Amino acid sequence: MRPDAAVSVAQLAQPGGSRRLRELGAQEFRQLATLIHDVAGISLNESKRALMVRRLSSHVQSLGLTSFGDYHDLVRADDSGQELVQLLDLIATNETHFFREPAHFDYLEREVFPRWQAEAREGTRQRHVRIWSAACSTGQEPYTLGMLLLANLPASEGWTFELLATDISTQALDAAAHGTWSVDKAKEIPTPYLKRFLRRGTGPQVGVMRAVQELRDAITFRRLNLNEDALDVIGSFDIVFCRNVLIYFTQAGRAQVIEKLTQRLTPDGLLFVGHAESLHEHRTRLRAVLPTVYTRLP
Ligand SMILES: C[S@@+](CC[C@H](N)C(=O)[O-])C[C@H]1O[C@@H](n2cnc3c(N)ncnc32)[C@H](O)[C@@H]1O
Repeated sequence: MRPDAAVSVAQLAQPGGSRRLRELGAQEFRQLATLIHDVAGISLNESKRALMVRRLSSHVQSLGLTSFGDYHDLVRADDSGQELVQLLDLIATNETHFFREPAHFDYLEREVFPRWQAEAREGTRQRHVRIWSAACSTGQEPYTLGMLLLANLPASEGWTFELLATDISTQALDAAAHGTWSVDKAKEIPTPYLKRFLRRGTGPQVGVMRAVQELRDAITFRRLNLNEDALDVIGSFDIVFCRNVLIYFTQAGRAQVIEKLTQRLTPDGLLFVGHAESLHEHRTRLRAVLPTVYTRLP
């Protein structure tokens, strides 16, 4: 943006306004969808127009704006980038669960961790592992991984791990880092893990549960946009989870992300994707070890 075009949200918006918001027109929808696609890779076709209205209306109104076109202009003009972050927070679908797609976690417990244990005993593997949850939403995925790692690769046997959890949504990351959820979610967690790693709130905290300190401390949270050219993560990972995010990308966008993630795998590293995201088009670079779990070809 040109310096003379610099403008703050405060200059453009009139927070608290209650004027009526005009309908989201086709052209305004396309403008916003293009912006979201260019920045985050998320592809929104015309069928998502009602979703955009649902997710953005009250925020646009809270800024005192009366049209989505003005909101689009405001996001583009906001030099701080904060309004863009807010837009992506509102648009991204954050649905997630503990132990979602349990076959992945069964596979880790039954095959991968025992194999690593055996290799460590033979001296062919270090007792240090690096794991990345690359679209972690409100944290249920990396906390599930953290519980599995602490339980299966114990520090008492010399194991250490780095567990990185990233997402584009700052709101989701804030929730994730706090490690607190409604107790309704407890039913998603197998009892032995629940007992060891979650504590129910009391008094004003009744109705919520929180991950124990040991588990919270095991995870590093960071904002990271998978659509950026160079992913700002260092080193290789033994396991990368990138689940239920690529479905929102175009095929070309998905291919670029998969290529970048593949480059981040150790030679025997594993890439986990969501059940609707099998990667047929990447057969030259990746081999499926399970329908949605891949390893690099040599
Ligand atoms: C449906 S959730 C999936 C959460 C978890 N991986 C799971 O499978 O339960 C999708 C997540 O992808 C994130 N996301 C969307 N576009 C992204 C991007 N370009 N870079 C990083 N994260 C993104 C969203 O913010 C959201 O938290």
